[in-house]
Amino acid sequence: MRRLTVLLTFLTAIIMNLGVEAHGPNQKNKETASITSNRGPFELVTHTGKTVTDQDYLGKFMLVYFGYTHCPDVCPIDLQIVSEVVYMLGKDSAKVQPLFVTVDPARDTVKVMADYVKHFHPRLIGLTGTKKQIASAAEIYRMQSRKSVPQDAEPGEYLIDHSAAIVLIGPDGGGLSLFPHGIAAKDIAADIERFIKPR
Ligand code: NI
Repeated sequence: MRRLTVLLTFLTAIIMNLGVEAHGPNQKNKETASITSNRGPFELVTHTGKTVTDQDYLGKFMLVYFGYTHCPDVCPIDLQIVSEVVYMLGKDSAKVQPLFVTVDPARDTVKVMADYVKHFHPRLIGLTGTKKQIASAAEIYRMQSRKSVPQDAEPGEYLIDHSAAIVLIGPDGGGLSLFPHGIAAKDIAADIERFIKPR
């Protein structure tokens, strides 16, 4: 029964997610994810300069968001929601690790990430890496991103259109839920609580 509930939650989340456009004209590759599609492995570098892999977070729920620090609007809103969720979980928040993975490793260095995550929950970990490491992590989580240059951009200036979904990974490393942009923090918190305290 529990397994069925998990599956239904995940499928519902996927369906909800498909109704939400990536933030920008990012239409390609809308394949349906399977229940295990979000399984690791990844290797990235934290905003304190430490190399980590998915193995480091086993045993915890991971709340993962892909974005970039120059993002004008969507990323700050979503990271604010992630932070709120962690606060809402109270004592249970110790079981949850919020992670922010950049899709813009060229600009989002360790130092830039360190300065940025300060604006959100104190336990939010910013993750960057080489272009290859980021691409590999994004592929695992099925997060799309694409550089876009506005017409009025200064030389060298660019934006990145990217999927804007928050992913919940279980303590065993398996994907549990995919929350679309615009979902309320309390709904994410309630979903996590259902996994933490199954009835
Ligand atoms: Ni963004």
